[in-house]
Amino acid sequence: MAASLATALTSASFAADKLVVGFSQIGSESGWRAAETSVTKQQAADRGIDLKFADAQQKQENQIKAIRGFIAQGVNAILVAPVVATGWDDVLKEAKEANIPVILLDRGVDAPEDLYLTSVASDQVKEGTVAGNWLVSAVGDAPCKVVEIEGTVGSTPAINRKKGFDEAVLAHANITIIRSQTGEFTRAKGKEVMEGFLKAENGGADICAVYAHNDDMAVGAIQAIKDAGLKPGTDIKVVSIDGVPDIFSAMVAGEANASVELTPNMAGPAFDALAAYLKDGTVPPKFIVTESKLYTPADNPQGEYDARKGLGY
Ligand code: AHR
Repeated sequence: MAASLATALTSASFAADKLVVGFSQIGSESGWRAAETSVTKQQAADRGIDLKFADAQQKQENQIKAIRGFIAQGVNAILVAPVVATGWDDVLKEAKEANIPVILLDRGVDAPEDLYLTSVASDQVKEGTVAGNWLVSAVGDAPCKVVEIEGTVGSTPAINRKKGFDEAVLAHANITIIRSQTGEFTRAKGKEVMEGFLKAENGGADICAVYAHNDDMAVGAIQAIKDAGLKPGTDIKVVSIDGVPDIFSAMVAGEANASVELTPNMAGPAFDALAAYLKDGTVPPKFIVTESKLYTPADNPQGEYDARKGLGY
């Protein structure tokens, strides 16, 4: 058994038979985030893991403080959903020096890969590409001016979902992204940003589609479009990412056109990888990539809503 693994197994100051895992969560900016929190707690409970939960309220400094607290407590492992990509090196080095494996959930970091055990996340560039490809085929050769509501500035989903969408649409001269602004992954900010876009673009008459980096911002945008007297889904196409119940309701109502699903169950694969690592040193792949499936109104949105509504969204 590797020395670091042996230390990880014996350093916890908790009951020897119960794994203790710290989880630094970003906050609760979206329905998807709420579901991830609730699924993570459930996955931990199902495995008899003692999960120490810390809500960072969107602040990296709170996450760093929480991780230092987990290190001081001598937890067996740490899960972190990093709010932004940069600024993690020091605290990840501290966890490594304490022989505590760190697993990233749903977002990446700009830090050396040896500072974390594995990362469980979607391919966020692909999510953007899937959304963009959907728009390309939905508009065909017709001219289409797109407004984009981005996620949290400096977060990997905002960076990568923009990149993937750009890659899909920019080769098509009939599609142009005319405005981009952050909506911080929240419904309220998504609505506010869309209101600004509508005002700036002739009350919305010049907008063909809105691409939102998550469903919550799309739902906010849908409200803004309705308030402006237009029909979301018809006058302005709506494409976004997450697959939360509210976007399926919007599809049922004809107000949303497409969403790329992001599973809220990042913790299941993370705990499986951790269990194997702690058991016999099995090193997981550095990136465990979850699926990115496209849903449209043709995919039984009522059924998809029903299947998800009890999951903590
Ligand atoms: O990192 C995943 C993103 O974070 C989700 O798409 C979004 O809803 C959340 O806030």
